[in-house]
Amino acid sequence: MDLFISAEGDDADLVAELRQGGITARDSGLPAGLVAADSPPSGGRGPLCFCRQLLPDARLVCADSVNRWAQALLEAILVGVPEGKPWRLHLWPHYGAVAPRTVGARRAFGTHVLGHRSPKLEDRAGQTPGGVAATAGMNRCRWIREALVEGLKERRRHLLRQLRESTEPWGQEESLVQGVLTAPDRGWVSIASAPVPVRCRDLIWPWDGGSIPVAEDRSAPSRAFAKLTEALERLGRGMGPGDHCVDLGASPGGWSHVALGRGARVTAVDRSPLRDDLMRDPRLEFIRGDAFSFRPDRPVDWLVCDVIAAPERSAAMLLEWLERSDTQWFVVTLKLKGEEDRARLAGIRRDLARVADPLFLLRLNANKGEVTAFGCRRGAEASG
Ligand SMILES: C[S@@+](CC[C@H](N)C(=O)[O-])C[C@H]1O[C@@H](n2cnc3c(N)ncnc32)[C@H](O)[C@@H]1O
Repeated sequence: MDLFISAEGDDADLVAELRQGGITARDSGLPAGLVAADSPPSGGRGPLCFCRQLLPDARLVCADSVNRWAQALLEAILVGVPEGKPWRLHLWPHYGAVAPRTVGARRAFGTHVLGHRSPKLEDRAGQTPGGVAATAGMNRCRWIREALVEGLKERRRHLLRQLRESTEPWGQEESLVQGVLTAPDRGWVSIASAPVPVRCRDLIWPWDGGSIPVAEDRSAPSRAFAKLTEALERLGRGMGPGDHCVDLGASPGGWSHVALGRGARVTAVDRSPLRDDLMRDPRLEFIRGDAFSFRPDRPVDWLVCDVIAAPERSAAMLLEWLERSDTQWFVVTLKLKGEEDRARLAGIRRDLARVADPLFLLRLNANKGEVTAFGCRRGAEASG
């Protein structure tokens, strides 16, 4: 059985999306945020908008002590991790209110160690409603991890030597061991043996539970910057010095702020101006006008667009930009109003897949009522 972590509040959408793809799925009888489905016989799993993380072939585990948890993980590792090959371990609690981690101007990845968080963030978790349970869950995961490492040290040192701690994109030879605790004594264990993580890279992300820490940047003119930051993290690359970035629907300037911060030159298009300091930036050119009729007069390394419009309109605009082939990378939000918009996503994905590779269409942690399309024009990644 496959277990899916859904994007917040999107269990029903994920079930519908899986069913649309011919996969029998259910969320009943499972804690909120989890969806179960039959594993496809071929092992092939299509991309999904509302899935945070896939735990392929997950097995229910009941373990009433830290040592029993460590033992269950060890047994799974011995069976599923190929000898002499690298592997990673994700272990996280899915109970209690989980306090947000932060990333962005103050990056948290450096302090985010598998199964636990920096002491400062744990303290903060303890202060939130439900935070005591969240802290207890994080501590339990840390102790399980420590017990597992001790067990490996004693009996399987060669496996321990291959354990990697990283949030880099998956390597061809890497396997992933995932453990999610839905209660202190209950949860699921899954092994994705190499090359499954890299093959399912839009369903299996290199962060615990597929969630990226919430971006924090107090100097940004709007919270919207978090969406672009997250999309770039998931893409594993971003704009750099000298890149030309077109930002459609740019005001008040969160996305332009991110692009400028990374050294890019920005053409910002909106009906309203951006925040004053951004308008004065010599690397930003502001064009007052309609995002949909704007055409660039020089090649574009990054097209980013956060215009509030019907999803099919934004998708058609993106398609046109990619077909014109003067654009390389893109991040475009698709705003969803209701069921009809959600039902259109599969068709939008199909259309974009003709001209984009990689292509991700995903409800980001930072998205509310929208999904984000991000990726690269087909063939451009190799040349750029
Ligand atoms: C969600 S806001 C963008 C926020 C921005 N990404 C940020 O980080 O601050 C949407 C913007 O799109 C602009 N907009 C909406 N329709 C537009 C159109 N047809 N042409 C140009 N701008 C448009 C609005 O003026 C608004 O500033």
